[in-house]
Amino acid sequence: MSQKTWGGRFTASTDARVEAFTESIQIDKRLYRHDIRASQAHARMLAEVGILSAAEAEQIVAALDAIREDIDQDRLPFRIELEDIHTHIERALIDRLGDLGRKLHTARSRNDQVVTDVKLWVRDAIDQLDALLTDLQRALVEAGERDHDLILPGYTHLQRAQPVLAAHYFLAYVEKFQRDRERLADCRKRVNLLPLGAAALAGTSLPINRDSVAQQLGFAGVAANSLDVSSDRDFVAEFLFDLSLLAVHLSGWAEEWILWATTEFHFLDLPDAFCTGSSIMPHKKNPDVLELMRGKSARVLGRLQQMLVLLKGLPLAYNRDLQEDKSALFDACDTVSAMLELAAPLIRQTRFRREVIASRLEDGFLDATTLMEFLIRVGVPMRSAHEAVGQLVRECEQRGCRLVDLPLELFQAICPNQAAAVYGVLGVANALKSFQSYGSTAPVEVERQLRLWRARLAS
Ligand code: ARG
Repeated sequence: MSQKTWGGRFTASTDARVEAFTESIQIDKRLYRHDIRASQAHARMLAEVGILSAAEAEQIVAALDAIREDIDQDRLPFRIELEDIHTHIERALIDRLGDLGRKLHTARSRNDQVVTDVKLWVRDAIDQLDALLTDLQRALVEAGERDHDLILPGYTHLQRAQPVLAAHYFLAYVEKFQRDRERLADCRKRVNLLPLGAAALAGTSLPINRDSVAQQLGFAGVAANSLDVSSDRDFVAEFLFDLSLLAVHLSGWAEEWILWATTEFHFLDLPDAFCTGSSIMPHKKNPDVLELMRGKSARVLGRLQQMLVLLKGLPLAYNRDLQEDKSALFDACDTVSAMLELAAPLIRQTRFRREVIASRLEDGFLDATTLMEFLIRVGVPMRSAHEAVGQLVRECEQRGCRLVDLPLELFQAICPNQAAAVYGVLGVANALKSFQSYGSTAPVEVERQLRLWRARLAS
């Protein structure tokens, strides 16, 4: 008799090349815990509605526990002729329980089974990612607190723009990762609807109770349309987008720190434990971890693309193409998790070269915009103030000096009554102190935000 769960209508056995081509066990075996959990809930529900006896359901649940134990211990051989994890577990159950094992698949299809398993897996993955993101946010807040008084040059177009507090810099990433967390939490709402009970595509004529299964598995509700359910992988695409944007955030940060660790910037002292050397150049200390964060993010973006292209031509309902969702899903999630696991300790162990940063802080006219705003405050129209400061900067470049080194007469020509007060906003430290708007790098604002995040991330 055929080993296949679907062998009844076939007379010839499957070509070995087809078995090799269609198997997914190498990839989906990692769903085994979720598959068993879902099957146990399904068996209990079948007993509740009278399709199985209570004793039968308990026998099935116990046998599934034993099978999980076997897989945990590597005692269940995986064979490509059994296709996927669902068939392996069902076969193991039948080997143990005979005819009783043949009853488990009642009112169920692999189509609704696989998507249930995947949803359980994604739900766990989202919870783990949230914990990793929270830890990363904590590392950023700690870094902000450690260097709360350090002033950094802020850049636009990678040109020196205005000063920012280091804490403000770190909190910028805290916000980005917060949005990543919120996106994942939102995605989780759509993940958390039970597919099981949709059966192959149309539901079932057997008197099942989907709410019971949903409740046992901790789903917030039941997916409403069986035809939609069996091929719905929107949540996978959504999840991969969330991972992609998260990877983009990590990649941008990595790029910034790669630059900051160069001899040219020399802002950062990266920990030895997170760098590698060169096999030929003895002096090298390379930021390979950061480079691979940037590099591996490409993989995650590629996986999103794979998933969207996979879905774009599919008619309702289940098509075997969907089996290819898991390689995209697992790889993207593993990659981002690995990135997050390294990002937090790297941030905790990296130190700013405070003296180097301070020694070059007055370069680049970081106080020019604050000077312009001072002129606006004393009544000079904005466009005129902009023009005047632009001319002063040109003057500085000719003299090879900073704005604060310019003589009083030059300021008197612009604002005769307030010229002396100009020196109160010049110099980077003064410029920094002048900020006041909500969300700005004003020291009190940044302290307030630090405290807020510290409290929000506590517990
Ligand atoms: N291994 C399959 C997958 O991952 C399970 C569903 C198979 N369903 C089917 N009708 N052949 O998609």
